Amino acid sequence: MMGLLGGGGKDEKKKTESYEEYKDRLIEYLTSPSTINVHEKDVQIAKYHQVITAIKYPRMVDPGWLTRLVEMNMDFDLSMHIYPYTVDTTIKMLENEIKKQKTDIYALETEGKIVPQSLIQQHQDTMALINLIQQGTEKMFDLSLYIDSKAYTKEELEQTTKKISDTMNSIMVTPKIPAYQMYKALRSTLPIGVDDLSVTRNITSSALAACFPFAISSLEQHATGILIGFNAMNSIPVIIDPWQLSNPNILVLGTSGGGKSYSMKLLLMREFMEGVSINVIDPQAEYTDLIKTFNGDVIRISPDSESVINPFDLTDQSLDEKKLSLLAFFRCLLGELTEPQRAILDETIDRAYEEKGITKDPKTWSREPPVLEDLYNEVLPLTKSQKEIIYKPAMAIVNRMKSYVFGPMRFLNQQTKIDLKNRMISFDIRDCPDVGKSTVMFLLLEYVYTQMKKSRERKILVIDEAWTVLSAGEQADYILRLVKTCRKFNLALVMMTQDVEDVLISRAGRAVLTNTSTKFLLKQDTSVLDQITERFNINPAERQFLQTATMGRALLMAETTRIPIYIMASPEEHRIITTKPDEMLQYQKLEKPESTGLVREFDINRPLHFKNDLDDDQIKMLTERGFEEIRVKTFTGDAELFLVKNDTDETDEHFVLQYLMYLLLQQYTDSALIHHTRLPDITFNARDGRMIAVEVEADVGVKRSIENMEAKRKILEKYDEYIYLVSNPVLKRDYGDKYGQILTREEIMQKIQSYFK
Ligand SMILES: Nc1ncnc2c1ncn2[C@@H]1O[C@H](COP(=O)(O)OP(=O)(O)O)[C@@H](O)[C@H]1O
Ligand SMILES: [Mg+2]
Repeated sequence: MMGLLGGGGKDEKKKTESYEEYKDRLIEYLTSPSTINVHEKDVQIAKYHQVITAIKYPRMVDPGWLTRLVEMNMDFDLSMHIYPYTVDTTIKMLENEIKKQKTDIYALETEGKIVPQSLIQQHQDTMALINLIQQGTEKMFDLSLYIDSKAYTKEELEQTTKKISDTMNSIMVTPKIPAYQMYKALRSTLPIGVDDLSVTRNITSSALAACFPFAISSLEQHATGILIGFNAMNSIPVIIDPWQLSNPNILVLGTSGGGKSYSMKLLLMREFMEGVSINVIDPQAEYTDLIKTFNGDVIRISPDSESVINPFDLTDQSLDEKKLSLLAFFRCLLGELTEPQRAILDETIDRAYEEKGITKDPKTWSREPPVLEDLYNEVLPLTKSQKEIIYKPAMAIVNRMKSYVFGPMRFLNQQTKIDLKNRMISFDIRDCPDVGKSTVMFLLLEYVYTQMKKSRERKILVIDEAWTVLSAGEQADYILRLVKTCRKFNLALVMMTQDVEDVLISRAGRAVLTNTSTKFLLKQDTSVLDQITERFNINPAERQFLQTATMGRALLMAETTRIPIYIMASPEEHRIITTKPDEMLQYQKLEKPESTGLVREFDINRPLHFKNDLDDDQIKMLTERGFEEIRVKTFTGDAELFLVKNDTDETDEHFVLQYLMYLLLQQYTDSALIHHTRLPDITFNARDGRMIAVEVEADVGVKRSIENMEAKRKILEKYDEYIYLVSNPVLKRDYGDKYGQILTREEIMQKIQSYFK
């Protein structure tokens, strides 16, 4: 490769190079390997590379047939190039093919020979295909498939290649090593969309679809689905579609901080992109960022918020149905109901509705329902009763209801005010008083569930920290009804909990377990491992995996399949869903609107910060990351304190001046580049397009400085103009003529300005 700064003899006229050209060369310089040795059958770039091409494919393929190849746990990359044909070209090509086949058949027939069956078959296939293409059912593509097999020694390379070739043969693909074309071949395997080798084969869309290499043979093949994670054994993406399983429900079990919420947030985002509606019951207010990112609604349920749900709201249920769920609601409030309590509630609930004119007649169901206080007023007189069997249970009910009518939960004592139109909604119940959290959770579950039943579109109801719902023995029947029927309405229930024991023991928990096709087991506490092992028939290897699983690792169980997976988000996704405090702090600062003047928002990745702009937390964070404090005179001549992380070989003062120079230039242009290599310290384009170089000389003594300046001059002369920024004014005074433009820090601002007039 040509040296970046080479080209042209000393005296040759200086060519002006555009910034784009310069940038291209810079990128090439920074990313190219220093040597590439091309041999007959391999290329050596640190490792040896040998490219294997596929020259023949089987006539028929099954979906996922390439999986065998991809699943091999070896050092290789697989590249496929796919080029679509236009319909016209395809038809022309096929018509020619048909003509040729016909001529062959005709020739054989006139010679009185037997036409081979394979030729007839081929002819029929082509005829059928041309039909499908004319109908638009199929399209044609060119496919090329290359494998870059890699190893550190030639012997190893030979073995790797042999194993790959054997596997290719076993799936009826004929491998070939393109001798004398290795460099081209290797380029063709890079993710740059260039097929120099062009060993292609035409293929129909359905056959092409079958080439998608990331299908798990052990999972049912789903044409749709989302990325759930990656197989922990071989890193193959695991794509499944919960909607295709016998029910779409998901249960996530694991210790706190193991990544339950994180993994489901990821799933939610990806499902949302597929058009699924999302509702989340969020006890910790940790979904807010996610919801806001997708323009969803966050509905806060707390004493001071606008939104409420009236437990008596019929929400399009029949009165009988509503009574069942109301009784479940009171079970949540009172614990298991005694027979007398139940009888009292049964009667007083009816009366409260009757008072409002709501009866068994469906026409009355749209009337305004009672609120908790109405029921309270029905029960209150019963506490005055003479009979113990009446006043005792009535007292119990009244006592528990007090906090809902007069106490901290009284905000529920009003008509429903909630707007559920958005496709993504979270119910933030963090600030809901603890006494009522579980009832509110239940109420929401019921309300959202009945609302969601109305449409047949796909939707997900998430219950994070679902302990209340899952541990409540009394609710088992209610929960069971829910998990069993939601499939009918295309509703998936996603529940997460760390209280694994509750799930395994309680009746509600077991009801959920048996009606949930997809389960994620994350890292488990040792105390529940035995129970888990027994309940899920975990084998010793899986047990070991669960015991030692780090964050984001899970045993995925979908119907009868289990795969250990790891769950990984893209950086963009991670940013939306992480709840780690210092990561969130960092992202928050990044999002601040741009200020004018020097760019001074906090960005932890920047190696220099003005200490004045930082708060104590930020200073602590930076110091922990190895930043050091230094005082330097800036371009105004005033000294300032900085926190810097100087990873260069230069002095700290040099580092600060170079960076300040860069910040200064950023006000004028985005062409400024900072270099810590042999290149000038800073380069940029002036307004007229000329390339300007700046060399900073700081604080190493006059003699060393002059040596440095001399050494750099040759490089600087390649630019249209160059300046030295010196920290020591003596250099300017004594050497100003010899080294062209030498400026002190006080002079630099004016000079820079002049380039952008
Ligand atoms: N797969 C993962 N990749 C990267 N970070 C993760 C992953 N899973 C969890 N985390 C980090 O751990 C934090 C806590 O995870 P979380 O899902 O909230 O735990 P919990 O199991 O208690 O719900 C997340 O906010 C995130 O920063
Ligand atoms: Mg959580």
